[in-house]
Amino acid sequence: MHKVIYDTDPGVDDAMALLFLHRHPDVDLIGITTVFGNASIEATTRNALFLKREWNISAPVAKGTGTTIDPSRKEIDWPTFVHGDNGLGNIDVPEMVDVPLDPRPAYRFIVDTVRANPGEVTLVAVGRMTNLALALKEDPEIAKLVKAVVIMGGNFYVPGNVSPVAEANIHGDPEAADIVLTAPWKVVVIGLDVTAVTTMSRRYLAAAAAEGDKAVKLLNDLSQFYIDFYAHAVDDGMMVHDSCACVYVVAPELFSTITGSVRVVCGGIADGQTIVKPDGRRFPPGDWDGLPSQIVCTGVESQKVIGLLRETL
Ligand code: BDR
Ligand code: CA
Repeated sequence: MHKVIYDTDPGVDDAMALLFLHRHPDVDLIGITTVFGNASIEATTRNALFLKREWNISAPVAKGTGTTIDPSRKEIDWPTFVHGDNGLGNIDVPEMVDVPLDPRPAYRFIVDTVRANPGEVTLVAVGRMTNLALALKEDPEIAKLVKAVVIMGGNFYVPGNVSPVAEANIHGDPEAADIVLTAPWKVVVIGLDVTAVTTMSRRYLAAAAAEGDKAVKLLNDLSQFYIDFYAHAVDDGMMVHDSCACVYVVAPELFSTITGSVRVVCGGIADGQTIVKPDGRRFPPGDWDGLPSQIVCTGVESQKVIGLLRETL
């Protein structure tokens, strides 16, 4: 059984991934932590509480940070054209959801939960990496106590999605991502190299919803805005970025990987770009020296990922 803390910015594809984690028999979802990204921290937290209530999820929700780790970074714009004004595809979501939050901030929840379950917790982070970076700053020792960190973020041998070289989750807080990727823990990086080729069609999702399950019906409803947005890139369907990271936890054999040290460009024209130095490649001494070796996904059996998602949802 995989004990998972899901760090998320719901977010349409975040919602699908949440339902996957909730329903997969090998996952014990022990916490949901929220972060800004697809919408403000108020909206992503409200959305997490809403999904918890609608889907009867027992895991506590802890509210995370609403700003980048470096306060000098410029104001953030929410990608309302991707996830809708409310972050959930503009379906009806109440302003307030009457479900209590965990009293702790997300970074503290992460530290406490990892310390209470040494060697057992997998952190799955599918938004900005800010909560994870704050948790590491608060208690660097957790790096040794976490089982694994699986993130959706970055792009290595394909273009970015918010700039020619950067992906949204990394670009939204590059300093935080660089802290997370260079910390002495095992990070699996699921970037656009695999998520941009893993798509679920509108028809496939609608067919699943038509089977009568209320949770999948809600998921189908909230996905329509996002699917419309993806019309420029996907043939009537959506990239299931965050679900790829969650599927990796239970089925890593569906992904091909390389190992190497990973850095994030902070500032300038390539702000937010992720760079891997593959293990075994030699370069003059520099920014790569002495960094932990991380796992970078470069390929995926996307049809099998979609099949597992569909079966689990
Ligand atoms: C990532 O950005 C967000 O829009 C998605 O939820 C995903 O986590 C993809 O770049
Ligand atoms: Ca996300």
